[in-house]
Amino acid sequence: MKKLTIGSIQKRKGDTPLVMITAYDALFARLFAQSADILLVGDSLNMSFGGNPDTLSATMDQMIYHTNAVCKGAPGTFVITDMPFGSYTDETTALANAIRVYRETPADAVKIEGGADKAGLVRHLTANGIAVCGHIGLLPQAFRAEGGYKVKGKTEEDALRLIEDARAIETAGAFILVIEGVKADVATRVAQNVSIPVIGIGAGNGVDGQVLVFSDMLGFYEPFVPKFVKQYLNGAGAVKEAVAQYADDVKSRAFPDDNYVY
Ligand code: KIV
Repeated sequence: MKKLTIGSIQKRKGDTPLVMITAYDALFARLFAQSADILLVGDSLNMSFGGNPDTLSATMDQMIYHTNAVCKGAPGTFVITDMPFGSYTDETTALANAIRVYRETPADAVKIEGGADKAGLVRHLTANGIAVCGHIGLLPQAFRAEGGYKVKGKTEEDALRLIEDARAIETAGAFILVIEGVKADVATRVAQNVSIPVIGIGAGNGVDGQVLVFSDMLGFYEPFVPKFVKQYLNGAGAVKEAVAQYADDVKSRAFPDDNYVY
């Protein structure tokens, strides 16, 4: 598949939905590259790979390490790197960290959580040559401050705020926007109110593409499966079964047999 550019991504607005999936390493990135338009090195890696209860302790060094692995596995795929919690507290910090992403990895863009309150930051980054993906709605980095993962868009006031957030992020120069955990009809209205592609996660089908956390959609992450996740594979079951079979074979000396020796 030909690597998308910001221009070709934007042309998909209102057209064939964009396929985005998270990736954290070269091994899976290589496999996902066949079908995904965009790979997101999400700070969700801090949970599924890091074993932490939330994304908040992810660091710039980790994001850079994982982004390089993903880019090596999928050199022909558009890659977005999540800016972790605390890495964009003000314009100077945000730009210094976004520049690290561009200087130390081949990533194509960075993602920042937040709405109108982050428009100034987005403007500062885009004005300095950084391609930015916005992220509105349910914000995983606000997990502790908000006391949990809260679905957004439940009232008309909230819906109007989300539309304002999306417009502010678009006006600030973001080329694409992720909308997470928002009532489907409201996410559709958000997508209709901006001219950049809006990628949904737990936000229904009226947007311009979908993103899922790969360890959720492939059934590897067992602690919790969000309602909006469709599991396309029983990854945990398949892995456990295979490793149990290997353990049985080792213990019974069925492995290695003559086929697997020098
Ligand atoms: O970190 C992540 O994987 C994300 C997705 C939930 C969009 O930001």
